[in-house]
Amino acid sequence: MTLRWRLTLLYTTVMGLILSFIMLTVFSVMTRIIDSNIRADLIRSMEQAIKVNHAPGASYSWIVTLDDAAWALLPDLYGQVDIYALPENELSNLKDERLIPTNFVRSPNLDGLIGAGQALTLPSYEYAQIIRNGQEQPYFSELDVQVGEQTRHLQVITRLLPVQLLNRSLAGPVYPGILLLARDVTEIEDVFTALKTVLFFVTLLAIVGMGITIYGVSARALKPLRYVQAAAETITEKNLSQRVPVPNTHDEVESLATTINDVLARLEKSFETQRRFTSDASHELRTPVTAIGGHAGYLLRRTSPTPQQAESLTIIKNESERLSHLIQSLLELARADAGSVSMNMQPMLAMAFMEDLQRELKPIIGQAELQVAGKEFSFMADPSRMKQVMINLVSNALKAGSTRVTMEAHLEGKQVHLLVRDNGPGIAEEHLTRLFDRFYRVQESRSRDEGGSGLGLSIVKTIIDAHQGRVWFESKVGEGTVVHVVLPYREVVAEE
Ligand SMILES: Nc1ncnc2c1ncn2[C@@H]1O[C@H](COP(=O)(O)OP(=O)(O)OP(=O)(O)O)[C@@H](O)[C@H]1O
Ligand SMILES: [Mg+2]
Repeated sequence: MTLRWRLTLLYTTVMGLILSFIMLTVFSVMTRIIDSNIRADLIRSMEQAIKVNHAPGASYSWIVTLDDAAWALLPDLYGQVDIYALPENELSNLKDERLIPTNFVRSPNLDGLIGAGQALTLPSYEYAQIIRNGQEQPYFSELDVQVGEQTRHLQVITRLLPVQLLNRSLAGPVYPGILLLARDVTEIEDVFTALKTVLFFVTLLAIVGMGITIYGVSARALKPLRYVQAAAETITEKNLSQRVPVPNTHDEVESLATTINDVLARLEKSFETQRRFTSDASHELRTPVTAIGGHAGYLLRRTSPTPQQAESLTIIKNESERLSHLIQSLLELARADAGSVSMNMQPMLAMAFMEDLQRELKPIIGQAELQVAGKEFSFMADPSRMKQVMINLVSNALKAGSTRVTMEAHLEGKQVHLLVRDNGPGIAEEHLTRLFDRFYRVQESRSRDEGGSGLGLSIVKTIIDAHQGRVWFESKVGEGTVVHVVLPYREVVAEE
């Protein structure tokens, strides 16, 4: 997973959790406030009900006179009084939880809710609780009533009370009773359900929005990092002098870029030291090696050494020539590494160039056949370097033991295609990609016998690279090898 996604997920999760917590808290505080308001309202209503139902001058302080006029004072509420005609007429005798009221009085508006003649009934265990709470404490409960298709939700307050039914006279028995007042809270609940849905979707939307924003913002935050990365990716051993841009952000990215540049500087220095060493060493070796070869040659030609001496001198001469060749190759590669390969682009005639080469190579090809194929065309390239390339490729083919080598040139659209085909032993697949590595030789011992250093193809590659071209091998073991060189075609502009 990318850093950008990780950041987005992390921050969105954290923000989502915080937001959900806030929303839940707000919601539960709101429901609690509304709930306690409804309860306080119910308590007030109950006190009022008791007050208005208490006949002035009655001998009992808790006499309740419940008639339609009294209920009319509590229009928002449903009311009901259950009366229990117990022998002792005492409140304390009301003990049975499953007791059934002997009688009940109801507010007229209950007709619309539960129908005439019906009573609101709470679950039996709640009656036990109401009796336990006694006169002092009201008891709250909730009740669902089915009205047609609809379920109405009621918030209920109940209390134990001694009830004296008044039949216009103040006399009459006193019974234990339960006063019940109910408020229809269906609408309020509906509002809360709707609010819950709205809050849920708002939270969800906010989290998605936050995720998108964080994704966008983190892209901006990581942009300098991408610049540094893109720049660092283009740096190879060829352009170690290049540096990554240092963003002026005063943060980790800036110090990362600075560090990368420091590393590059150190690498460049060590590469430079190595290159200079190769170049200096080659320079220093060149003169003495040439002198050794020259003197060996002189001794061979101008003195009359014994056959054994002659053999030694020949070895000295050949090996010093091989060494000279190696030193020359090393110098060339060191120069290429330093980026100081100067190209001298000139108009070239493909066929003429290869026919010249054919003539020039005649003395060294021995029994083998060297052919030229293709049609004449002109192009721009560095002739001496291209000659170096072709000589190397042809001599590789000959060293491998080919008996027929063909040099071909074709102009294909915007590309110059040069080929060197041979009927040599071919090269196994696994070597093909490594041929251009320095000192890489396929058959170590044989190549050494031939005096090869394994640097020829590295040099070929640097020359072709300098022409912005490509070079690759195609080979089948036992059938031969084809080396392809493709150069971008540069038209010859006639000079005036
Ligand atoms: N046409 C070919 N057929 C078979 N093997 C080849 C051919 N061309 C190159 N090779 C193999 O690739 C190796 C590398 O070639 P390269 O030109 O780099 O080095 P070299 O010829 O050994 O030495 P140098 O060119 O420096 O004198 C050779 O040693 C040889 O084994
Ligand atoms: Mg070679």
